[in-house]
Amino acid sequence: MNSSLGYITTLLSLFQSVSAIPTAQAPNKFNWSAKKGIIAFGDSYTYVQGTHGHQNYSFIGDQFNYAYDPETLLSNMIVQNQVHSNSPIPSKYVLYPSGIRTNTRPETATAEGGPNWIEYLTNCGLEPGMTSPRSCQKQLWDFAFAGADISTEYTPLHHNFTVSLVNQITQFQEYGHSTLSQHLRETETLIAIWIGINDIGDSSKYAVDFPTFYANLTNTLFTSIDTLYKLGYKSYLLINLPPLDRTPSNQATSTPHPNATQVTWYNDALAAHAEQFGKKRNVEMRVFDAHGRLSEIMESPGRYGIVNTTGYCAGYDQLDVGVNYKEYGCPVPVEEYFWFNSGHLTSHVHRILAGEIERWLMR
Ligand SMILES: *[C@@H]1O[C@H](CO)[C@@H](O)[C@H](O)[C@H]1NC(C)=O
Ligand SMILES: *[C@@H]1O[C@H](CO)[C@@H](O)[C@H](O)[C@H]1NC(C)=O
Ligand SMILES: *[C@@H]1O[C@H](CO)[C@@H](O)[C@H](O)[C@H]1NC(C)=O
Ligand SMILES: *[C@@H]1O[C@H](CO)[C@@H](O)[C@H](O)[C@H]1NC(C)=O
Ligand SMILES: *[C@@H]1O[C@H](CO)[C@@H](O)[C@H](O)[C@H]1NC(C)=O
Ligand SMILES: *[C@@H]1O[C@H](CO)[C@@H](O)[C@H](O)[C@H]1NC(C)=O
Repeated sequence: MNSSLGYITTLLSLFQSVSAIPTAQAPNKFNWSAKKGIIAFGDSYTYVQGTHGHQNYSFIGDQFNYAYDPETLLSNMIVQNQVHSNSPIPSKYVLYPSGIRTNTRPETATAEGGPNWIEYLTNCGLEPGMTSPRSCQKQLWDFAFAGADISTEYTPLHHNFTVSLVNQITQFQEYGHSTLSQHLRETETLIAIWIGINDIGDSSKYAVDFPTFYANLTNTLFTSIDTLYKLGYKSYLLINLPPLDRTPSNQATSTPHPNATQVTWYNDALAAHAEQFGKKRNVEMRVFDAHGRLSEIMESPGRYGIVNTTGYCAGYDQLDVGVNYKEYGCPVPVEEYFWFNSGHLTSHVHRILAGEIERWLMR
């Protein structure tokens, strides 16, 4: 009797602590259930491969193939050539996704060795093969470009074909918006942006006053977001920076780049600008605290089916790593690691994050 009551009490308190997880707040909440699609911008954490994209970098075009016509956009397909779990996004903590442990080769349709957060969140592009964004219940139009920073005003391009965040939005304004708005109304669209990961890494050794530098960076970001606002988009989801001071190489040194203070400064600048913008424009603007959630996962990895938060599997990019991970010196499969490689989270972590974002959006 007593012990079963104790068990129930433990369950209840677990449930309460789960519900009480603090997340960033923003002035307005949009109705996620009513949204028919996402238009996304960002970097490799968010990029999906398109049939009209630059291989390994984008859904459509690049800086040298900047213009596209309506037909190219509408016929473009999201490519998925990676392992994934068929089960729906977990509505609660969970679990090791058993579907993920297969011998399928890791490929390059994302930078995570499997579907990424935006594909899990929209449930668009998860199926192996090709998916038209228009065929998804929540359409995913993803203009994120792997390796992107916010603007060349602050940091150099990773490649000469890289489309910066500012240019992704200009490109969308010029070539995407008038076509897409005929298929996905502005009011039914959520704009999702995860950016800053490359910026903070590329600039971490600059000789600048960082709080001011990050305020400038995020100022440029919101000037660009204002372009979207003027096109009629009123719902925004921003994601803050992960604990990038804890990447495998940063954990191995006493002088991480970026360090924890820098990550906090950037995230503070982002939160402050988001709040300001939300109020000034009276839009629905929410910032998801990925930093807080990912830190929590790193503190209690076992609850999430993760056993290694310090390193990554050296064979992550090998074709047979799914079955032969031990041959690459990895005691466990790639999906039981937190980090996929030196700077990316595993698809497993993206899946957990997507579930958490969805639950948070529904609140
Ligand atoms: C959100 O949208 C759904 C689907 O359109 C609708 O059923 C629900 O009533 C809306 N909720 C609120 C709070 O407006
Ligand atoms: C994309 O990445 C794969 C795996 O690293 C590589 O084999 C391929 O050559 C890359 N393609 C381009 C165009 O860089
Ligand atoms: C882009 O960079 C590559 C090598 O990094 C170079 O070969 C190519 O000529 C450059 N293209 C242009 C148009 O500058
Ligand atoms: C921030 O922007 C201001 C105004 O453009 C400029 O004067 C200042 O040098 C910038 N500071 C940093 C650290 O980037
Ligand atoms: C992180 O780096 C910044 C800029 O160099 C420095 O001001 C700050 O003290 C550092 N923080 C830590 C915890 O080392
Ligand atoms: C984490 O993974 C790395 C790379 O496989 C390995 O070197 C390290 O020993 C692992 N750490 C733990 C605690 O298992």
